[in-house]
Amino acid sequence: MPNAMKSLNRKIALARRHGADRVAIALAGKALQFPLMMVFGGTRWHLRGYHTTNYKKVAVAMAGTVAAPAGVVAEVGCGLGDILTRVEARHRLGFDIDRGVIAWARFLRRFGRSRAEFAVGSFDALARSEHEAIDLLIMTGWFHYMPDDWIRDQMRSLLAVKRVRHLLVDEFPDQRGRIERLFDELALQVDRRHDWQDDKFLFLYRCGD
Ligand SMILES: C[S@@+](CC[C@H](N)C(=O)[O-])C[C@H]1O[C@@H](n2cnc3c(N)ncnc32)[C@H](O)[C@@H]1O
Repeated sequence: MPNAMKSLNRKIALARRHGADRVAIALAGKALQFPLMMVFGGTRWHLRGYHTTNYKKVAVAMAGTVAAPAGVVAEVGCGLGDILTRVEARHRLGFDIDRGVIAWARFLRRFGRSRAEFAVGSFDALARSEHEAIDLLIMTGWFHYMPDDWIRDQMRSLLAVKRVRHLLVDEFPDQRGRIERLFDELALQVDRRHDWQDDKFLFLYRCGD
């Protein structure tokens, strides 16, 4: 079968699995977001919205098992906050090193479902935040290009200054075992789910009480 045909069949199968209504919402979202991407200067990746991206749905479902509605949820590398803004919490803190993406996320917040706070930065910015305890820290979609030592150092430094109760991370299929091994050194794995779409695994860890 020619490649174009294979790709079309794969898209149809994906659309069926997500559901026609979700696909319609995702396509409308893309059309609305495209001009914003041009204005804020983000990458095309951010047009990959929640409704047709299974790992984001899995992350929200896993987060829902531990996030306290009265608590604090943080996401480092939050992008537009597709995951963060869907997790129930009194305080939602999103950090990203990309200034344009944070400006874009703040713009969307005016029309969105949550009052999440977005700031430019990474773990160092979260470490400086006023919140002493974080119920859940989410990190998805970018650890695959960071070296092991960097991840280890960042996590150890953060955990030394903040009481973080749960961690949620994902692992790409071509790096099977890497993120899991790193986080197994730091905390206790309490949940592990597979994402059928990208063949990723998502892991939830408990690292405090
Ligand atoms: C693929 S997106 C994922 C967004 C979101 N976590 C999700 O899964 O929907 C990765 C994001 O991580 C951000 N990022 C990359 N390196 C980072 C770092 N060192 N600290 C904070 N954010 C980072 C990028 O700017 C980008 O917005």
